[in-house]
Amino acid sequence: MKIAIVGASGLVGRKMVETLNKSSHELVLYCSNKSAGQTLNGLKLIELNDKTLQKVDIALFSAGSTVSKLWAKKFSKLGAFVIDNSNAFRRETSVPLVVPEINPHTINNNTKIIANPNCSTIQIALPLFYLNKQAKIKKVIISTYQASSGAGKKGLLDLENGTAVKFPHPLTDNLIPQIDIALENGYTLEEDKMRFELKKILECNISVVATAIRVPVKNCHGASVYVEFEKPLSKEKAKAILLKANGITLQDNLEKAIYPMPISANNTDQVYIGRLRQDLDNEKALSFWVVADNLRKGASTNAIQIMEIVKNFI
Ligand SMILES: NC(=O)c1ccc[n+]([C@@H]2O[C@H](COP(=O)([O-])OP(=O)(O)OC[C@H]3O[C@@H](n4cnc5c(N)ncnc54)[C@H](OP(=O)(O)O)[C@@H]3O)[C@@H](O)[C@H]2O)c1
Repeated sequence: MKIAIVGASGLVGRKMVETLNKSSHELVLYCSNKSAGQTLNGLKLIELNDKTLQKVDIALFSAGSTVSKLWAKKFSKLGAFVIDNSNAFRRETSVPLVVPEINPHTINNNTKIIANPNCSTIQIALPLFYLNKQAKIKKVIISTYQASSGAGKKGLLDLENGTAVKFPHPLTDNLIPQIDIALENGYTLEEDKMRFELKKILECNISVVATAIRVPVKNCHGASVYVEFEKPLSKEKAKAILLKANGITLQDNLEKAIYPMPISANNTDQVYIGRLRQDLDNEKALSFWVVADNLRKGASTNAIQIMEIVKNFI
């Protein structure tokens, strides 16, 4: 099978190349004119343009929305299934927004463009999906603690160098309560993405209030999540559900100081849950803390899991 990776030299692209280079697939690595000519895992990086465009079976995009809007349909017209990590197509009703453990059924022969959700959305959607099956969710209140790598190579450089090139303020010794652009309603686009995407993935009209914060951590996003259900759900029952849940690892023993943290989630593919607590004033509500590697389960791993489903239609 021939697979193109558009944005192969980026933080997400490199993770996809690392994984797929171990497979038997033929890989075509695309980038901009900046990285063209360099090699990655022994493969040459090619500038994406009309002359270098090739017919492939699957195209994995991680080069930002502008590049996706310009190039995704050109690949799909040549017959490729496109799996896109950007925000370009997530809101289109004909485009499935997929977390493979949750909604693989939304992919079929005709879904030539498939969207990977926002990195924070993926790690929050997964536990909510399993809990929602048990006790319908009414409302979710989220505060995210998002790593600098979530903003790509330039975000990581801002943290390393103490600069404010990608972010509106220096991130070193700081917390920035803004991720992505400001909207007229007072939220940021990142917060709005979480609200929209959780409803689309979970296929229900839950109420979502999100606050997204950039923190001076290199990699792995954390989120504090408060969930209100239609009916009572005990901490013990929730724990039993999450223990069995595909894609989730529980790390929940406060007395022994066991809970998810970026340093332990780094370079792994699971979504880690801990600090599971009952709302002491509401038997229909729980809180938890969730951490995942934004470059892996939040992007490259999720996209490659989608790719494995797509292969059934080729
Ligand atoms: N970082 C995350 O945690 C994360 C998580 C989920 C989704 N995403 C999404 O994934 C995408 C990539 O993110 P990232 O963090 O990997 O960004 P990044 O590190 O900044 O990498 C961007 C990549 O896009 C390439 N690119 C830029 N302009 C291009 C063009 N005109 N044609 C072809 N390639 C071009 C760059 O190539 P050069 O090396 O040549 O500049 C580089 O390979 C974004 O849409 C982002 O929203 C990121």
